[in-house]
Amino acid sequence: MTTNPNDQVHIRDLSFQLLYSEAMVRERVNALGAALTETHKNLNPLFISILSGAFVFASDLIRAFDGDCEIGFVKLSSYKGTRSSGDVQTVMGLEKDLKGRHIVVVEDIVDTGRTLHFFHNHLQEQGPASITTVAFLRKPSAIEFPVPVEYVGFDIENKFVVGYGLDYDGLGRNIPGVYQLIEE
Ligand code: XMP
Ligand code: MG
Repeated sequence: MTTNPNDQVHIRDLSFQLLYSEAMVRERVNALGAALTETHKNLNPLFISILSGAFVFASDLIRAFDGDCEIGFVKLSSYKGTRSSGDVQTVMGLEKDLKGRHIVVVEDIVDTGRTLHFFHNHLQEQGPASITTVAFLRKPSAIEFPVPVEYVGFDIENKFVVGYGLDYDGLGRNIPGVYQLIEE
């Protein structure tokens, strides 16, 4: 991974242009945390972060939430390289009892909606008191599976992005801002 002064990053064979700076991301995530504080302050919500991409967002989001909360992680996957593979793999890692809990699902990006559609149905079967979904990014023109997403950081074009937890072939998760693929 290399960065240059033109606000581009290069990862393996691809180049990406800055879309949201670290400061813009911080401001938006703090606003989402404040909004969630309004609705969930006294509910001891259980944040469920979908691994791997959402772990950076989740760690900032829970620190922007002012109140008691818990966090858990699940592993799902539908992506290979820069394209959705079509299958959502089974849920792993959810050990908590969800019955009667106020769940806040934390996702890095909603693309087709397949992952969240699958996971939302899976959660609902376990009798939570409520399910609220927060996605850092969403690609509105890529949606194929309707899923309720109550809070969105940024709606973006249907182009591949990296940074702030999102990767290209495993790399780029540690970039503090968000960068969009430059299509040649
Ligand atoms: P679906 O199609 O299920 O996809 O909504 C959601 C998952 O796909 C991954 N994804 C991306 N990862 N840059 C990435 O690094 C992207 O532009 C991108 N679009 C989708 C992501 O893991 C998300 O959870
Ligand atoms: Mg993900």
